[in-house]
Amino acid sequence: MSARPDAIAPRPILSLRAVGVSFRGVRALDDITFDVPQGGVTAVIGPNGAGKTTLFNCISGIYRHEGDIELDGDALRHLRAHQRTSAGIARTFQTPTLLDTEDVFQNVLAGTQAWTTSGLAGVLIGSRKARREEREARDVAWQHLTAVGLAESAGRLAGALAHADRRRVEVARALASRPRILMLDEPAAGLSAAESDELLALIAAQSRTTGMTSILVEHDVALVMRTARWIAVLDAGKLLATGYPDEIRANPAVVAAYLGVDAEVAA
Ligand SMILES: Nc1ncnc2c1ncn2[C@@H]1O[C@H](COP(=O)(O)OP(=O)(O)O)[C@@H](O)[C@H]1O
Ligand SMILES: [Mg+2]
Repeated sequence: MSARPDAIAPRPILSLRAVGVSFRGVRALDDITFDVPQGGVTAVIGPNGAGKTTLFNCISGIYRHEGDIELDGDALRHLRAHQRTSAGIARTFQTPTLLDTEDVFQNVLAGTQAWTTSGLAGVLIGSRKARREEREARDVAWQHLTAVGLAESAGRLAGALAHADRRRVEVARALASRPRILMLDEPAAGLSAAESDELLALIAAQSRTTGMTSILVEHDVALVMRTARWIAVLDAGKLLATGYPDEIRANPAVVAAYLGVDAEVAA
């Protein structure tokens, strides 16, 4: 990793150490070691099949892997996927995954289960703490639903939504979990330029107000370059480079493997 004399290195929120995964002998990730700085947007880029989604699956606890991942100094190894969500790791998927037979509001409310403690039993027996928490969860769900511009669709079935709106609901649900880390897997796919700018502006605003760190997998290089403050490049399961956007854009190995000469010229 490069150091910049004019920049104070932020402490890492997430540390990957020698992370590796194989599928039937295919090395999907090999010896991946880098730190994700606290706050702002870190992008993970690379060609199709480079291992970006696999990396997200390792971080969110869906895949078993070699090596270690630490969240703010705490090892995640022994935490299952839902425990990692409660620890503050949220994500969206390359194809949005919603509860299609539930309405939009319930989908977003589901995100709050990461931090509510009382559960339905508490609400049913009417404990004050449970009722207070339930109110707070509903407020938080409304707040994020409104922020993504879908308050008026709260009662619609998620399965009836168009793609861009599904993406928004998924982001609202992830934000409602009050994440410390939000992983976004190709959030701009299927959105217009204006829609994806809007979505990323919303995420940037959330980062500023809460200190949340986002990890963005995205193919739109221009979008990555204007959004990310730190970039990791994967190629065929290996870490090719890490650095600031201007360093990545000028890195000959990255240009050769992924960006192409146009990107360098455009920079
Ligand atoms: N569950 C799986 N079973 C078998 N192979 C997988 C699985 N998940 C990912 N892979 C393989 O791992 C490699 C990386 O895939 P992926 O992480 O989806 O790439 P990216 O998201 O960068 O396009 C690919 O060769 C892919 O086929
Ligand atoms: Mg992928």
